[in-house]
Amino acid sequence: MITIIGSGRVGATTAFALLFFEVDNEVVLIDVIKNLPQGEAVDLNHAAAILGKSVRYRGSNDYKDMEGSDLVIVTAGLARKPGMTREELAGKNAEIVASIAEQIKRYAPNSIVIITTNPLDAMVYVLYKKLGFPRNRVIGFSGVLDSNRMAYYASLLVGIAPESIIPVVLGQHGENMYPVPEASFIYGKPLTEFITKEQYDDIVKKTVQAGAEITSLRGFSSNWGPAAGLAMMVDSIKRDRKRVFEASVYLDGEYGVRDVFAEVPVVLGKNGVEKIIELKLNDEQRKKFLDSVEAIKRNLAQVPPQFLS
Ligand code: 2OP
Repeated sequence: MITIIGSGRVGATTAFALLFFEVDNEVVLIDVIKNLPQGEAVDLNHAAAILGKSVRYRGSNDYKDMEGSDLVIVTAGLARKPGMTREELAGKNAEIVASIAEQIKRYAPNSIVIITTNPLDAMVYVLYKKLGFPRNRVIGFSGVLDSNRMAYYASLLVGIAPESIIPVVLGQHGENMYPVPEASFIYGKPLTEFITKEQYDDIVKKTVQAGAEITSLRGFSSNWGPAAGLAMMVDSIKRDRKRVFEASVYLDGEYGVRDVFAEVPVVLGKNGVEKIIELKLNDEQRKKFLDSVEAIKRNLAQVPPQFLS
């Protein structure tokens, strides 16, 4: 059983994306807004009937209904408004995440939890501290989005499909994320051998600004990309595929940092994060990575201390 907490755009779109994977035949939607998750569930059940998929949705305002879930996706929280940074959301969303953690601990104590709430790397830290679960079962979503956005922008320039590009974006999911085109490969050949310096800068800039661009264009933040990315991660975990994705995970010495969540490549399987893949960074890359981690620490400093332990 999969539970999605938060029936806003990201939650509802993710519920729909999961339909195509059929990794679990029971998906529960939970939201505090009365009747919203129930309404989404009815509509989604109609979609399942039309597509002939064996997934049943249930909507509820009661956290008790997540009892027995082996995978929980947390999408709840205030979303970014135009002109608002992910960081500004920190205080309010920390409170929401901490209270959701209590419910997950109570009703789904053995679950693997993925969270999308921004500012991502700070909110997954709050979730981890409040859950007290082992680090392999607490995952911050975002890396799939950032890295595939980079693959997409690169693909437009090099004329090669995004899925044939293995993209690397490290560090913070935010204005200080660190896209690394020189660590991204197309069948063993570095992406940088296909692009000019201007194109390199263009890819980096577009990747960092992608989330803000969507928000400023349409007035609300992304949902299709996050839903697609979440569904891919859930598929790898539930089917124990052990595929490599980027995700924000708790680093305990890896990449030379400790006690911080940051985006890095990981293996996702039935145990959640089964391996952290440590890339060899040169001095300049290490410095950029550490700068990005510093930005995450600044986000954490905006979170009231009672949510950080
Ligand atoms: C994004 O990058 C809003 O963080 C979200 O699209």
